[in-house]
Amino acid sequence: MEMLVVGEADIRRSVDLEEAISTVEEGFTHLAAGEVNLPPVMSLELPERRGELHVKGAHIADASSFVVKLATGFYDNPLIGLPSGGGMMLVFSARTGFPEALLLDNGYLTDLRTAAAGAIAAKYLAKQELSTVGVVGAGAQGRYQVMALAKVRRFEKLLAYDIDRERLERYVKEMPETIGVNCQAVESVQKVVTESDLLVTATPATEPYVRARWVHPGLHITAMGSDSPDKQELASEVLARADLLVCDLRVQCFERGELHHGLREGTIAEEDEIVELGELTSGRHPGRTDDSQVTICDLTGVGVQDAGIATLAYEKALQSGLGSSLEL
Ligand SMILES: NC(=O)c1ccc[n+]([C@@H]2O[C@H](COP(=O)([O-])OP(=O)(O)OC[C@H]3O[C@@H](n4cnc5c(N)ncnc54)[C@H](O)[C@@H]3O)[C@@H](O)[C@H]2O)c1
Repeated sequence: MEMLVVGEADIRRSVDLEEAISTVEEGFTHLAAGEVNLPPVMSLELPERRGELHVKGAHIADASSFVVKLATGFYDNPLIGLPSGGGMMLVFSARTGFPEALLLDNGYLTDLRTAAAGAIAAKYLAKQELSTVGVVGAGAQGRYQVMALAKVRRFEKLLAYDIDRERLERYVKEMPETIGVNCQAVESVQKVVTESDLLVTATPATEPYVRARWVHPGLHITAMGSDSPDKQELASEVLARADLLVCDLRVQCFERGELHHGLREGTIAEEDEIVELGELTSGRHPGRTDDSQVTICDLTGVGVQDAGIATLAYEKALQSGLGSSLEL
């Protein structure tokens, strides 16, 4: 028996954002139809090292394989010249349980599938006509979220803020070349929020920094940085300002992510209408219906995204003859 081992460079060459968006969208639709076997997230926290490991996975419908993903986040890595995110994905045969592929993507596939979820949120929730997009957190997701957004919406200007001046400067130099849009560094989160039609928060912050009083009609917020119970980017009162509150997976966001803090602090309740992304992708919910609505999407990252993207990467590797076989 053999297992295919594929390295990051081959995976980067063969899987792109556009395919990631359609694959992840299909995954959410399967999830909404009850066609996904999805275990809870396993987390290992190393707070003294600002590190964490999340294990996620899923089996979609009648797929011939299932996937387990290990993703790490070590937020002091940039200080030693390494990216914060890392990890790998494993594809198993759903017939025998034996491994079929080991995808040594070092977090690239997680970045793609997360950015894809942000683009899907924007597709259904952002106004059709956007002028300014704002990003808090000029790291990996601050980049991928905007690159994916550019596949579903046009915009004229990108505003960015980061607590780290150097990272922010690098970001505003790089992004115009990457997406062909003017990018400016701003001096406060308040300015990013008040001047943007769409806001992405992409930090591992544990103290909220977006205030309810800055939220304005028409704003869409994708809050994707908070994927552990201790992380929070939006003050919980921000959630109460939403005309339409959306998340990737209710049960998961009730335990981690922004909704978790809203429930704890009583600004939202489990009985409130909280729509899942799959309800939008399957057409059960229309998403934004009015340009003045405030929409908020809380993303914590769901195993079905990992199953979709890993299966795609495995199929691409097989088609192009990438990777090397390992005898089991
Ligand atoms: N929802 C999901 O599915 C999902 C998937 C991947 C990553 N994440 C999360 O997204 C977050 C960002 O990940 P990344 O890989 O982009 O990390 P990164 O380290 O590459 O970038 C994070 C950036 O945020 C900045 N930052 C930190 N605290 C800040 C604050 N209070 N205000 C402004 N800027 C601040 C840092 O200086 C850094 O530039 C992490 O919490 C990660 O766990 C979520």
